[in-house]
Amino acid sequence: MEQLRQLVWEPRYTVHVEELDAQHQRLFNITNDILALSESGSDELYASLQALVDYLCTHIRAENVVMIESHYPGYAQQSAQHTQFIDKMLHFLNSYKEDQQNLSHEIVSYLHHWIFSHTTNLDLKYGEHLLRTRAAQQP
Ligand SMILES: [Fe+2]
Ligand SMILES: [Fe+2]
Repeated sequence: MEQLRQLVWEPRYTVHVEELDAQHQRLFNITNDILALSESGSDELYASLQALVDYLCTHIRAENVVMIESHYPGYAQQSAQHTQFIDKMLHFLNSYKEDQQNLSHEIVSYLHHWIFSHTTNLDLKYGEHLLRTRAAQQP
C-alpha cells in the first residue's frame, strides 16, 4: 500500500487572506491526523472523516464570501470542485460502514490528494485575482 506523506503548508501556498490561509493549514493538519488514524487502524477514523467534511463546509462558506465579494470569475469552477468533493466524501462515508476494510485507504488517499492539489492549485488562482484586484484599487 502506498505510503501517504504528511502535508506541510508553505508560505508560497498563500491565497492572500489570513483567515483562509489559517483554514488551509488546519485542513492540512486534520488530514495529517486522519493519515495517522488510518495507519494505526483506529476506530476513530470515521468520526474524523465526518469532522473533516464539516470543517471543509465551513471553509467553503468562507471562501465563497471572498470569491463573491471580489467578483472572482472562476467562482463556478471552484464551486463545482467543492461540490464534487463533498458529494464523493458523503458517498464514501455512506458506504464505509459496509466495507470499512477496503474503503478506508481509498477514502484517505482520495482526500489527501484532493485537499493538497485543490488548495495548492485552484485556490491559488483566486489568491492571484485578489492581488490584481487590490493593486487596481490602489490610488
Ligand atoms: Fe480552500
Ligand atoms: Fe477552494
